[in-house]
Amino acid sequence: MPDDLTSENPFVRYRERLDVYLAARRRGWSDADFVALVERLDQAVAGVEGHGFVRTPLVPGAAVVAAAGLDCKLVLKDDTDNVGGSHKSRHLFGLALHQAIDDAGTGPLAIASCGNAARSAGVVAAALGRELQVFVPDWADVDVIDRLNELGAHINVCERRADELGDPAFLRYREAVADGAVPFTVQGTEAPAVIDGGRTLGWELAEELAAAQGATAAIDSLYIQVGGGALATAVSMAMFDAADCGWLAKPPRILAVQPANAHPLARAWHRLVDPDGGVDPVAIMTEARAHPDRYMTPWEDPPESLATGILDDVTYDWLGVVEAMARTGGHPVLASESDIAHAHALIAEHTSIIASPTGTAGLAGLLADPPEAGERAAVLITGRT
Ligand SMILES: Cc1ncc(COP(=O)(O)O)c(C=O)c1O
Repeated sequence: MPDDLTSENPFVRYRERLDVYLAARRRGWSDADFVALVERLDQAVAGVEGHGFVRTPLVPGAAVVAAAGLDCKLVLKDDTDNVGGSHKSRHLFGLALHQAIDDAGTGPLAIASCGNAARSAGVVAAALGRELQVFVPDWADVDVIDRLNELGAHINVCERRADELGDPAFLRYREAVADGAVPFTVQGTEAPAVIDGGRTLGWELAEELAAAQGATAAIDSLYIQVGGGALATAVSMAMFDAADCGWLAKPPRILAVQPANAHPLARAWHRLVDPDGGVDPVAIMTEARAHPDRYMTPWEDPPESLATGILDDVTYDWLGVVEAMARTGGHPVLASESDIAHAHALIAEHTSIIASPTGTAGLAGLLADPPEAGERAAVLITGRT
């Protein structure tokens, strides 16, 4: 067990679990070379943001559970004070490490986002001293745009063009990549290496639970809000890993939370899984990988929710989330708008965490589909905005 779970940078602490570390070692880097790279980039992030990456807190959820009238044991993993105000920076710092090791090209970095991912990309790109092209819709939030301007990012406002289908910001981002820009997004489908660093959130959670419970922790369910799916994919992978290395007795049930108003992942799951048959993970994944477009289709109506950060019309990284649900006895959970508002209010009133409705949407899933009495559950509080 770790002696000290305090302030160590997670990319140093968990380096031997990271794919990027293994890639670096295969290329002949020493352990000290890798640590020096992380520390150099982290200091540059601190120069931009005021602080670098440190372990984020695990907060008891008893007051929240009591106020909700539930009878389970709850912990909250609070990532809202992370770099950029959300967990997205974990994904992008990991991607930056991969790009440093792989020599991914010198073109501008590019992302289509107008939310937390764009903020984090802005911070990490500024720390790297790299040009960042951000493709945003014409309704993008003014605060995000102001912050991106402060960080020196180039904003490309993308209007919908007549006779064009799909998200205009994403289409323009794709054109930039075709012209030599380097993907700097939080979608594993665009930049597969982005999943790697997101796993640090899950490792921290598991190691903290193990420390709190004595040696090996028991946790029954983990509720994770899902937009594009990179977060849930990464954290679920970390849960399997944590069970393999003994921090957890077994991986928790993965409960993927989406707004009832927009739930492409839940729809894909229900198309795949026969409600009257059991869930056979191998059969489900074989079918899903063979015919992904039969199952994951774009959400048709323009989605609306208080949880604006998880309104992706496609769950890009859906296969990893479906596999995690199938292997752990989990399932998707739909949170109504009143669950989403209630969860947000509970966190505001019964903790000192400042979070957005997207950041608290995992808790909305717990309200919608609560654990059995006495069960142990965890939720991720992922972002301030
Ligand atoms: C605060 C916050 N939490 C969770 C998510 C969901 O992450 P993912 O898109 O990887 O599913 C997002 C995505 O924007 C977010 O901003």
